[in-house]
This record gives sequence, C-alpha cells and structure tokens, in this order.
Amino acid sequence: MTIPQRSSDHAGPGRPSTAAAGSSGGIFEVRHPLIERHLTRMRDVGTAPTDFRHSVRRLAALMAYEATKDLPTEAVEVQTPLATAAGVKLRGRIGLAPILRAGLGMVDPILDLLPMAEVWHLGLYRDEDTAEPVRYYDKLPAHSPVDVALVLDPMLATGGSVSAALATLREWGVGRLKVLSLIASRQGLAAVATEFPAVQIYVCQIDPELDSRKFIVPGLGDAGDRIFNTVVS
Ligand code: PRP
Repeated sequence: MTIPQRSSDHAGPGRPSTAAAGSSGGIFEVRHPLIERHLTRMRDVGTAPTDFRHSVRRLAALMAYEATKDLPTEAVEVQTPLATAAGVKLRGRIGLAPILRAGLGMVDPILDLLPMAEVWHLGLYRDEDTAEPVRYYDKLPAHSPVDVALVLDPMLATGGSVSAALATLREWGVGRLKVLSLIASRQGLAAVATEFPAVQIYVCQIDPELDSRKFIVPGLGDAGDRIFNTVVS
C-alpha cells in the first residue's frame, strides 16, 4: 500500500510548513539535520541509556514544535513596559497521551513547551506471542474530553498500540488527534492512516519493514527497554 506521506521541512519563522498548511489528517515525516543526528544516536546499539533518553527528549521537543503549528489561538493584548502589544494565547484544552512505558520519555520535554497540557496516561503493552496490544491502564473520565490529544510513543511497529490508543481517545470524545512517534514501520503507518484518516501522524523516520517478531528493521530495538535500562541480554 502506498502511504500518503507528506514531508514537513523546517520552514522557519513566518513561513507556513507543509504540516501547518491545513488540519487534515495524514503522515508527516519531519525532516531536519538535528532530527537525523539524534535518531542516528538512538539507532546505535552502543548508545548508553542516558544518551538514548536525551535523544528521545530532544526529538520529542523538535517534533512537538512541528506538530503544534496548527493549534488554534486567540488574540490577547498585553501591557509591555512601554505600551500595549497584540499577542495570542492557545485556545482549547490540550492533552498528552503517553503510551506506557516508552511514551513517558517524551512527556517532560513536551510539557516544557505546553505547560498547560493535561497528561492522560494509557497503559498498553504488546503481547509477545501475538504482537497484539493489551490494554492495562487508563483513567479517562466518562465526560469532558480534551479538544486536542497528542498520542506519544517513540515506536510505531504494527501500529496496533497506537490504533488502540486512538480508539480509546476517540471513544472519550476527543475532537482532534495527533500521533508523535519517533520511528515507524511503513506497514504500521499505512495501517493506522487507513483506520484513522483524519489523524495527523508525525514521525521522524520511516523504516521499510518488520521482522518475524514484528520488530522494526533496522529500527533501534525496544525503546522502552533502552529508555529505562531494562535490556536483558
Ligand atoms: C512497544 C512500543 C510501542 C509498541 C509498538 O511497547 O513502545 O508501544 O511496542 O508496537 P506496535 O506498533 O506493534 O503495537 P512495548 O509493548 O514493548 O511495551 P513497553 O513500552 O512497556 O516496553
């Protein structure tokens, strides 16, 4: 299947990027030399957990900058020491939805950019035999959904975990859904984009295949294990 992929270059101040051009769904591969460098470090099996975590944080911030370019704002006026100035504030409630465990590594750098965001954790793990997602935690209330939710998970392999998270958030009633994933397989992206055509999926790099265990190849291993230093050799 062909992925309806859109490249999102760093456009610079005042210039709309591809990603900001509209609010329709699709796949946005965020391209930038810093992103490529950090992802290279993450792929390297010799990168220590502390450096791996740093790269996750930096990539999360760079992606969030791109993925939030179309957030709605409203005009406000502030008083400077000299005069009044026109400004903006963000409109609506924004939720971060990290998928446990690995998504936790992306929360703090994005909260630094969006300090007013709410964090709604979603517990999902992949069954080792079937590669199907298993839900084990969420505390979403029955009402009052956020206006925009950012699903955070460094990895999108089959896409099952992200799809399960999106289904949960859609059921909650969230109006706009975005996915931020550092590395994804072509096949998993196609599956999620087909099931959720209105969702914006931001990725740093797309890998060509999954192996027989449904691991992304060449990939970077298991992001959760590398972030939390639980790799068992
Ligand atoms: C990994 C990863 C994603 C999922 C991707 O989590 O962080 O959540 O697998 O696979 P999928 O796209 O095929 O669903 P894992 O199940 O290893 O849980 P963990 O983060 O707790 O280690």
